[in-house]
Amino acid sequence: MAHEAQLFLRQLLTKPKQISAIAPSSPWLARAMAQGLGPHSGRVVEFGPGTGALTRAILAAGVPHENITLFEMNPEFVTHLRLAMPRVSVHHAPAQAAVGLVDMGVERVISGLPLLSMPPELRRAIVKAAFDILAPDGIYTQFTYGPNPPLSPEMVADLGLNVSKGPKIWANLPPARVYHFQRR
Ligand SMILES: C[S@@+](CC[C@H](N)C(=O)[O-])C[C@H]1O[C@@H](n2cnc3c(N)ncnc32)[C@H](O)[C@@H]1O
Repeated sequence: MAHEAQLFLRQLLTKPKQISAIAPSSPWLARAMAQGLGPHSGRVVEFGPGTGALTRAILAAGVPHENITLFEMNPEFVTHLRLAMPRVSVHHAPAQAAVGLVDMGVERVISGLPLLSMPPELRRAIVKAAFDILAPDGIYTQFTYGPNPPLSPEMVADLGLNVSKGPKIWANLPPARVYHFQRR
């Protein structure tokens, strides 16, 4: 874990815009993001796993390794994840390229991406990619440090989505709110 903290800090210092967080997600936030998942949840895709804080909570919830696919852009994190979780599938690719790399019908997309620090077009492309691979009743789960949902009401409406508020995790650094998005 000390090794992961060092790796995260090194990447934060070299690529601050890509990381956009002062620390990996806490176990409390990770558990809240994985809530509702279990051995029979079907396939789960994670966007922006970093050092794997959320991935470990997905595994701890009982999702089989074989049912988890990760999309991470940072090569150092990809190498770390492949060594730490060899049975989980790790794509060294941006989240917005998920369509075509993953079969449709995914039950849940868990995102640790810094959506708020991305331009609106990229934000939209990423959420659209998530819904292009999700099953009709699939859920996109995203945390944010901001006071509002990480997608504007206009973008939510335009993409034909509903948003619901999950828990606020005060013990996270900084405190974070979980949101769930689903098709209307
Ligand atoms: C805030 S860190 C979150 C790490 C981890 N999910 C957590 O909660 O501790 C954001 C991660 O998203 C990755 N990332 C940024 N843009 C991305 C994109 N378009 N596609 C995939 N990963 C991306 C970064 O490299 C970084 O690992």
